[in-house]
Amino acid sequence: MSTDRRDAAILAEGVRKHYPGRGAALDGLDLAVAPGTVHGLLGPNGAGKTTAVRILATLVRLDGGSARVAGCDVASDPARVRARIGLAGQHAALDEVLSGRQNLEMFARLHHLRARAARRRAGALLERFDLEAAADRPVRNYSGGMRRRLDLAVSLIRGADVLFLDEPSTGLDPRSRNEVWNAVRELAASGTTVLLTTQYLEEADRLCSRISLMDRGRVVAEGSPSELKARVGGSRLEVAVPAGRDLAAAAGSISAALCAAPEIDPAARRISAPVRGGVGALGRLARTLDEAGLQADDVSLRRPDLDDVFLRLTAGPIREGKGR
Ligand SMILES: Nc1ncnc2c1ncn2[C@@H]1O[C@H](COP(=O)(O)OP(=O)(O)OP(=O)(O)O)[C@@H](O)[C@H]1O
Ligand SMILES: [Mg+2]
Repeated sequence: MSTDRRDAAILAEGVRKHYPGRGAALDGLDLAVAPGTVHGLLGPNGAGKTTAVRILATLVRLDGGSARVAGCDVASDPARVRARIGLAGQHAALDEVLSGRQNLEMFARLHHLRARAARRRAGALLERFDLEAAADRPVRNYSGGMRRRLDLAVSLIRGADVLFLDEPSTGLDPRSRNEVWNAVRELAASGTTVLLTTQYLEEADRLCSRISLMDRGRVVAEGSPSELKARVGGSRLEVAVPAGRDLAAAAGSISAALCAAPEIDPAARRISAPVRGGVGALGRLARTLDEAGLQADDVSLRRPDLDDVFLRLTAGPIREGKGR
C-alpha cells in the first residue's frame, strides 16, 4: 500500500464487524487514505462499504482491529473524531419547506454558531457550492444535484478535515453528477480528505486518485484507477475483417505480427488479440495487414476499464439500474 500509514488521514487496520446472525460485514478491512485525496470504496452490494464508512464516522462500533481518522482513534476517542469529520449519507435531514440558506443557518445554529456567524457560514457555503441563485428558494423545488450539493454544504458546516460520502451521486442525472464531482474535486483541492463509496465505476475512475475494491468485507485490490486496470491485463486489439477476405489468414497474420494467440469470432468476423508494446506493435500490425492485402474496416484498440477489474476481482455483479 503506497500511502504512508503514519501520515494517513484515514487508517483502518484489520477492522471487523459482525452483525448477529449475519456473518462478517467487515472481515479484516485495511485502508490507508492520504490527506487531501479523494479515495473510493468500490464494491458490489453488501461488500461492506456503508459499514466501513459508519465505523470510521463513529456511528457504529467496530468489533475488532483498529481505525484512526484525522489522527484520532475511532474506538477510544469518538468525540474528537466527530469534531474533525463531515458525513453526507444518501438521505440528509433537509427541511423541505425551508430555503437552502435557512437550512444551512439552522444546522449552523445546531452546531452552536451565533446568529451572525451562522449567516456568514451559510453565505460562504452557498457560494462554494454554487447555490447562490437558488439560496432563497424552498428546498422542495431543488433538483437532485442541488440537493446533493446542499447535503455536502451541510456536512461541512463545521469545516471538516475528513469527509465521508456514501454514494454521493446515486440517483443523479449526468449533469447533476458532474456538479457533485466538481464540488468534491474542489474540496480535495482545498485540502479536505474525501472517502466516498460508489457503485459507479466511472465515478471511481474520474474522481478518485486511489480506489479500494471491496468484496465480502475486505479489500481485494487497491491502487490508482490505471494501476487497477493494468492488473487485469493490457489493451486488446480488435480487427473487423471485411466480408470476402480470408478470416483464418488474417488471424494468422495478426498472430505473427503481435506474437499472440488471437481470438476469432467468425459470426462477427472479428479478431481480437492482446497487444503488448503499444504503438510499435500497431505499426507492425498495420504493415502486416497491408502486405497481406487486407483492409481492416475497423481496427481499434480497447483498453481495459474498471468494469473488467470489477468483474475479474469481485464475486458479485454491480447493482444494476440503481439510479440510472
Ligand atoms: N444494521 C445491520 N444489521 C444487520 N446486518 C447489517 C446491518 N448493516 C449491514 N448489514 C449487513 O452487512 C453486510 C454489509 O452491508 P453494507 O451495507 O455495509 O454493504 P454495502 O457495500 O454498503 O452495500 P450496498 O452497495 O448495497 O450499499 C451486508 O451483508 C448487510 O446485510
Ligand atoms: Mg451501502
